[in-house]
Amino acid sequence: MSRILIKNIKELVQVLDANVRKLSGEEMSNLSTIKDAWLAIEDDIIIAYGEMKDWGGITDWTDLEVIDASGKMVFPTWCDSHTHIVFAKTREEEFVDRIKGLTYQEIAAKGGGILNSAKKLQAASEEDLYNDTLNRIKEIQITGTGAVEIKSGYGLSLDAELKMLRVIKRLKENCDITIKANFLGAHAIPAEYKENRRGYIDLIINEMLPIIEKENLADFIDTFCETNYYTPEETNEILEAGTKIGLTPKIHVNQFTSIGGIQVGIKNKALSVDHLEVMTEKDIADLAQSNVMPTLLPSCSFFLTIPYAPAKQLIEKGLPIALATDFNPGSTPSGNMCFVLSLACINMKLTPEQAINAATINAAYAMGLEKTHGSISVGKKANVFITNEMNSIAHLPYYFGHNQIEEVIINGKRT
Ligand code: NIG
Ligand code: FE
Repeated sequence: MSRILIKNIKELVQVLDANVRKLSGEEMSNLSTIKDAWLAIEDDIIIAYGEMKDWGGITDWTDLEVIDASGKMVFPTWCDSHTHIVFAKTREEEFVDRIKGLTYQEIAAKGGGILNSAKKLQAASEEDLYNDTLNRIKEIQITGTGAVEIKSGYGLSLDAELKMLRVIKRLKENCDITIKANFLGAHAIPAEYKENRRGYIDLIINEMLPIIEKENLADFIDTFCETNYYTPEETNEILEAGTKIGLTPKIHVNQFTSIGGIQVGIKNKALSVDHLEVMTEKDIADLAQSNVMPTLLPSCSFFLTIPYAPAKQLIEKGLPIALATDFNPGSTPSGNMCFVLSLACINMKLTPEQAINAATINAAYAMGLEKTHGSISVGKKANVFITNEMNSIAHLPYYFGHNQIEEVIINGKRT
């Protein structure tokens, strides 16, 4: 048995009853913390916490590793509920094209974008994809991420989509951090199906999904519901087919245009609808009547210089929001959740408390992990990070671009 005690914690952040599943509307303004605290971990589980003045939690000191966190904060690790972290090559040439004036859509129209990544991924070996992604996972872990959702969608052929999903499955089995797999076969229409989109959708539904079911390759199903990508009707058909084999929808909607994707997500009981940079009043009102988690990706807005999602408006309507990175080679070449928090505070005007709630418990909900991740709660996974010395929690989003995380503990293991 391994046991860790973290003592003299300046502030233990996001302490919640284990039954809290998500925080909505005004609840998001409150961040529950304990000042001058201790936290006890046994194997991979949080077993107790409290204030130093009420010390007395631990009576058996055998094999107890003690960490002194004087002046430092302890947080639950971030949950990154939206990434495309399996990819073959970076796309800095498109970055330069955009600097010179082309838009993301213009680059896609001339064969760049998702189709560019698909060409590169189809040519990559499973082994290289696995090793490259493993390195990226180690990198995001250092910046405090303890659970990550990973999408397919750069394969766009039967073989290449399965290759991506098998890489994700291997990562799930071998990584310390928790991983969820999202099947995004409907990310773009492959070049060879340009004149036959029906043929590709049939391939997804009739050939990819049965193998995914048989080999247990995914938890979620995604579609890029957007002008020039998939229509709401096509999205609906794909989500219905995924749901039939037990996958839960989590979808890309309203990144550039509002075409009804939100409503399709609600109808199909999506766990989350993600992006939401372009929202109508009706989209927001419909979401407010649902249980779907709006998931916002400020690093994507930053990198593509597109509008930020209306985070404050959503919260004012009583909705919860989650924050994620969208780590991918085209629209967001960063998996750093601390930077996401800074952007959410600076450009979406979230308070640090709202941003932290969005990146922990609500983000855990957005990937179906709220029972085990996303807060400091007795019985939850011992996934926590210890910061550098800091005066207040606001320092974390404020001091952007600096590494402020000193140590990450995943499943009770010091990494
Ligand atoms: O979430 N919007 C769709 N998919 C990704 C970007 C994909 C790419 O450009 O490679 C996103 O931003
Ligand atoms: Fe995405």
